[in-house]
Amino acid sequence: MDLQREFHMTGGVGKTSYARNSSFQKKAYDQAKDIILKTLQQLYKETRPKSLGIADLGCSSGPNTLSTIRDIIKAVIVAHHPFPGSFYGRLFPENTIHFIYASFSLHWLSKIPPGLYDDQGKSINKGCINICSSSPEAVSKAYYSQFKEDFSMFLRSRSKEVVAAGRMVLIILGREGPEHVGRGNSFLWELLARAIADLVSQGEIEEEKLDSYELHFYAPSAAEIEGEVNKEGSFELEKLDMLEVDMEWGNEDGISYGKAVAKTIRAVQESMLASHFGEEILDKLFDTYGRIIDEEIAKEDIKHITFFVVLRRKL
Ligand SMILES: C[S@@+](CC[C@H](N)C(=O)[O-])C[C@H]1O[C@@H](n2cnc3c(N)ncnc32)[C@H](O)[C@@H]1O
Repeated sequence: MDLQREFHMTGGVGKTSYARNSSFQKKAYDQAKDIILKTLQQLYKETRPKSLGIADLGCSSGPNTLSTIRDIIKAVIVAHHPFPGSFYGRLFPENTIHFIYASFSLHWLSKIPPGLYDDQGKSINKGCINICSSSPEAVSKAYYSQFKEDFSMFLRSRSKEVVAAGRMVLIILGREGPEHVGRGNSFLWELLARAIADLVSQGEIEEEKLDSYELHFYAPSAAEIEGEVNKEGSFELEKLDMLEVDMEWGNEDGISYGKAVAKTIRAVQESMLASHFGEEILDKLFDTYGRIIDEEIAKEDIKHITFFVVLRRKL
C-alpha cells in the first residue's frame, strides 16, 4: 500500500470526519498549550527574527490546526508587545514591513511643543488648550514646528522599515487651508476650553489649571502634509484626499450631536483630563461641553476635516 497516498484523516465536516472527531487531540493540546506557547515566546525574545517561519507538521484539517495557529499568532504578538514604543521612532527591523496603517493617530504629537512655555515655564496660551482664536501667533508656530519635527521623524523611521513599493495608509485629522482658527477640528478644543472655563467661573476648577493645560494635538493642512512628505523624500504621495465626516453622527444612538461629540472626545481625552483636573469634574465638564457644542452647531456647522493619505515607498 502506498502509505503516503492512502493514509490521511477522514476529510470534510461530516459525522465521521476528523474535524468532528478529534477532541481527544485538542484536549492534549490544551494541557500542553502553556508550555508550547511559552517555548515559542522564549525563542522569539531570544532571536527577534525579521520574519518568523512556523510549521505544523501533520496538521491534518479541521479546528485543531486552526486554533493552534491562532494561539501561536497571539502569543507572538504578546511576546512582541513589551517592546513597542512610539511611532515617532524606529519600531521594526529594516526592510520588513509591506503595509502600514495608522488611523486617527498622527495628529497626536510626541509632546507638548516646548515653544508654548515662557522662560518661567508658564504657558503663553492662557485660557486655551490648543490653537484657539485668542492664542498669540507664537502658539500656532510652536505647534506647527512640533508637527514638522514629529511627522518627518515618523516618515524617516518608516522609510527604513517599509520595503520598496510598500504602502502606508494614514488617516489624519486636519484642516482645510492655511488658517489655523475656524470651525474645523481645533474649534472642538476651543469649545472644550470654554467648557473648562465655565467650571472655572463656578469655582470648580482653578484658573491656573486651565492656563497650564495644553493638548499635544495638531491638525495639519494638505499642503503641510505634502510638504513634509516631499522634504523627507522616501515616499511618493499616491493619494491625499480630504474627507468630511457627515453631521448625522450621533443620531444613531438617539442622542444629540453635541452629546455624541462629547462622548467621543471623552473616550480619547479622559485619562489626560482626569490626571490634570481630577476625575470628579469629568461628568459635569462633558455635560457642559455637549451642551456648548449643540448651541454652536445650531449657529453654524463644525467641519471634521479628515485626510486620507496613501504613500508609496520609492524604489
Ligand atoms: C484615537 S486612537 C485611534 C485608534 C484606532 N486607530 C482607530 O482608528 O479607531 C489613537 C491611538 O494612537 C496612539 N498613539 C498616539 N501617539 C502615539 C505614538 N507616538 N506612538 C504610538 N501610538 C500612539 C494612542 O495611544 C491611541 O491608541
